Amino acid sequence: MGADSPPSSSSTAPVAGVGAKNTVKQYHRIVVGFLLGFFVVLVLYTTLSSQFGSRTAIGVLQSLSAVRTDQATGAAPPLPSSNTPSNLAQEEDGGHKNDKPNKTEEEHIQDDAHRIGKNNQSEAKLDVNNNGQNAEKTGQPAANDASDRMEEELIRQEIDQGSNKNDTIMEPAATAPRKPICDLSDPRYDICEISGDARTMGANRTVLYVPPVGELGSDGQEWSIRDQSRKHLEFVNKVTVKSLNASQSLAAPECTSRHAVRALVFAMNGLTSNPWHDFSDVLIPLFITTRALEGEVQFLVSDLQPWFVDKYRLVLKNLSRYDIIDFNQDGGVRCYPHVTVGLRSHRDLGIDPARAPRNYTMLDFRLYIREIYRLPSAGVSIPYKEANSNAAAAAPGAPAEQLQRKPRLMLINRGRTRKFVNFPEIVGAVQKAGFEVIPIEPRRDLSVEDFARTVDSCDVLMGAHGAGLTNFFFLRTNAVMLQVVPWGHMEHPSMAFYGGPAKEMRLRDVEYSIADVESTLYDKYGKDNPVVSDPESIHKQGWQLGMRYYWIEQDIRLNVTRFAPTLQKVLQMIRE
Ligand SMILES: *[C@@H]1O[C@H](CO)[C@@H](O)[C@H](O)[C@H]1NC(C)=O
Ligand SMILES: *[C@@H]1O[C@H](CO)[C@@H](O)[C@H](O)[C@H]1NC(C)=O
Ligand SMILES: *[C@@H]1O[C@H](CO)[C@@H](O)[C@H](O)[C@H]1NC(C)=O
Ligand SMILES: *[C@@H]1O[C@H](CO)[C@@H](O)[C@H](O)[C@H]1NC(C)=O
Ligand SMILES: *[C@@H]1O[C@H](CO)[C@@H](O)[C@H](O)[C@H]1NC(C)=O
Ligand SMILES: *[C@@H]1O[C@H](CO)[C@@H](O)[C@H](O)[C@H]1NC(C)=O
Ligand SMILES: *[C@@H]1O[C@H](CO)[C@@H](O)[C@H](O)[C@H]1NC(C)=O
Ligand SMILES: *[C@@H]1O[C@H](CO)[C@@H](O)[C@H](O)[C@H]1NC(C)=O
Repeated sequence: MGADSPPSSSSTAPVAGVGAKNTVKQYHRIVVGFLLGFFVVLVLYTTLSSQFGSRTAIGVLQSLSAVRTDQATGAAPPLPSSNTPSNLAQEEDGGHKNDKPNKTEEEHIQDDAHRIGKNNQSEAKLDVNNNGQNAEKTGQPAANDASDRMEEELIRQEIDQGSNKNDTIMEPAATAPRKPICDLSDPRYDICEISGDARTMGANRTVLYVPPVGELGSDGQEWSIRDQSRKHLEFVNKVTVKSLNASQSLAAPECTSRHAVRALVFAMNGLTSNPWHDFSDVLIPLFITTRALEGEVQFLVSDLQPWFVDKYRLVLKNLSRYDIIDFNQDGGVRCYPHVTVGLRSHRDLGIDPARAPRNYTMLDFRLYIREIYRLPSAGVSIPYKEANSNAAAAAPGAPAEQLQRKPRLMLINRGRTRKFVNFPEIVGAVQKAGFEVIPIEPRRDLSVEDFARTVDSCDVLMGAHGAGLTNFFFLRTNAVMLQVVPWGHMEHPSMAFYGGPAKEMRLRDVEYSIADVESTLYDKYGKDNPVVSDPESIHKQGWQLGMRYYWIEQDIRLNVTRFAPTLQKVLQMIRE
């Protein structure tokens, strides 16, 4: 997270061909922490978009049909209703991968760079030993007490709704059919739950269910699912889940390691590297899927991204107290009493409490993240209130002007798209309105932990619509997220991706929609060009065009006079 932009934009400007590998590798060395997120994807996108131009549209059509044929085998889930809004959702800064007709050479290079550049993270505790021995030492018996088991049961009930099988790990009912249940019914995710004798073979991305001798109905079913929350995203490779029949069971591969704890197989690639997607596609689904297990689950990560493991290590270590296994590199046969394949997800950057274990909400998630990063506990006021009530207590009767620490506003500038071209002027205006400003420019490079503390010390987080606002997880209750909405009918996505979640997390949400003249599109195309005068007509021609103009091409020159009342409104909110 952090300012979602590159540390050195000149050296990482769109690259192609021979120089790409080195530059990218270098880039990844520099990239530490939240600050950079989606830039790789953006570079890739800008490179590709200039190469492919209008062919991007074709690429997407191809990829959709590829999904369809892909899933023609067996229980094919319905195609996603390929509506524009949800595509836009994926395009939120980092979703540009959708534009590629296929995995390109460059993308492979990028992938390699990720692995080479970031593989040496000792803290990541990767089990890349390939034989499963390493995990053994931490595979302590899962001290599942009654309440743990109850939570597991709650989760299982949610998954196995409608099925009346009696499915406890310890006492397999030998006569009832107990097969891996793959549920392909949700529009967002597929998920499989295997109880009993589950064997994972990471090297060939397969998880087996070996039924007990004599179990009925073991007719050798097979599923192939994407083990992340965007089930139609072709960048997520599939994992095969197989229920063996009686004769196959006799020849089942022997366990090379046995574990008492349960396991979860999920993918870390996809649209990750954009902080918004890191949270929406992986971390929140992971929270939904495993938080109630209190760390008693081992992660088997397919397409592991070392930078992700490093960046979010505090969260990952809390959700699982066991070593993370690099699934693709795992040549062993690991045996678990229970394996889940896939991640549950309810909506973009959201949680539906009615479907979540313990009825978790987004508020719970924000407070959880704050706990993980050791920020002040839930009851604490926004810093402005906190400081001033302390000051008032220390010096009763002192004049208000002397007491008051100014409200603090973090102003995030973006690196390459939707950037504030008059940033210094905006900083000045915010100061003049009575705030202390913490300007965050793309080159700032902080650890997530440091960055989280800085955000926590602010009363307002301000930025143009974009992934930098994902830092709102570190704000305190009642702090303000001030989102500058770019030109081009961006109000809906702005609310859906940031405004709505902010409210659910008990932050105060303020939007400032810029006027056409505040967009650099106005200078570039003139007021009469439909790009400026009729954004709706552009959106109607397909999301690719909308993305090109309003998400990618546009910068913002905030009219600080027009913006001033918004700042006053925010100031009032903070003081009230
Ligand atoms: C994508 O690449 C694979 C192999 O790399 C190839 O088999 C396939 O035909 C390509 N698909 C498209 C749409 O280019
Ligand atoms: C990994 O990092 C450690 C210490 O940071 C260093 O000693 C070691 O040589 C590095 N290994 C590789 C393969 O880069
Ligand atoms: C599940 O099995 C246990 C013992 O095997 C039994 O006592 C219990 O009644 C069963 N529950 C259901 C819902 O079938
Ligand atoms: C997967 O790998 C295991 C051993 O690692 C092997 O026994 C099994 O046959 C392989 N399955 C497939 C489908 O290749
Ligand atoms: C089990 O599955 C294998 C492979 O699909 C098949 O050849 C065999 O006939 C099946 N055996 C039984 C008993 O169904
Ligand atoms: C996860 O964090 C919570 C809240 O800080 C803490 O109570 C719990 O012990 C942590 N779990 C693990 C496995 O570290
Ligand atoms: C969660 O919410 C649903 C619907 O609001 C309710 O039926 C259910 O009992 C709740 N579950 C828990 C564990 O509180
Ligand atoms: C800035 O906004 C003010 C107030 O809305 C307006 O009067 C002024 O013309 C605007 N300036 C520019 C350059 O558009």
